[in-house]
Amino acid sequence: ILISFALILTAYLLGSIPTGYLAGRILKGIDIREHGSGSTGATNVLRTVGKGAAIGVLLVDLVKGMMAIALIKMITNSLGGNVLQWQEWLVMTGALLAVLGHSKSVWLKFSGGKSAAISLGVLFVMNPFVGLGTLATFLIVLYFSRIVSLSSLSGAIAVSVFMAIFNPSIPYLTFALLAGLYVIIRHRTNIQRLMAGKEPRIGQAVTP
Ligand code: G3P
Repeated sequence: ILISFALILTAYLLGSIPTGYLAGRILKGIDIREHGSGSTGATNVLRTVGKGAAIGVLLVDLVKGMMAIALIKMITNSLGGNVLQWQEWLVMTGALLAVLGHSKSVWLKFSGGKSAAISLGVLFVMNPFVGLGTLATFLIVLYFSRIVSLSSLSGAIAVSVFMAIFNPSIPYLTFALLAGLYVIIRHRTNIQRLMAGKEPRIGQAVTP
C-alpha cells in the first residue's frame, strides 16, 4: 500500500512539473497564464514564446506522462504485480493523477495546461496502439483544420474507441472515458470559441 501511494504521488508530481510556465518565465520573462489562451500547454507556448520552446515543452510533457506510467509498470512488474488485476487499477489511478497534475499543478496554485499532451504520453505506455490511434486522429484533424483544440477534442473522444478496440479492460476503459471527459472539460473556453467561429488556427492570435 505504501508503494502504491508513493507511485501515485510520483505520477502526480511528474504531471505537475510546470514545463510551459518555466519556458515562459525563463525564455521570455512572462507568466504564460496571462497571455494567449492562458494555458501552460505547448500550443500556448507556440503562440507566446516560440516554435523551439513549444517543441521542447511538447516533448517534455509527453515524456512526463510516459515516465509516470513506465515507473508504475516497472515497479509493479518487479513485484510480480502483472499477474494481478490491481496493476491495471494502479496504472489507471497514476495515469489520472498525472493528467490531473499537469492541469492542477501544485507549483502553480493548481492551474496549468489542458492535459492533452500528457494524456497522449500516458497512453503510449499504457497501450502503444491506443496511443498511435489517438495521435493519428489528432494529426488528421490538425492537418485539415489547423486548429489544435479541435484536434485535441477529437483525440479525447477517439481515445475511448481505441481503448475499447485494443485494450478493453475495465480500469483502462475507465481511464479513457474519464481522461477524455476531463480533457474536454478543460477545453470549455475553446469549445465556446469554436462554436462562435472565433477559435484561432495555428499562427493566429486568441481573441476574446
Ligand atoms: O492541448 C491544448 C490545445 O488543445 C489548445 O490549447 O492554448 O489553444 O487553448 P489552447
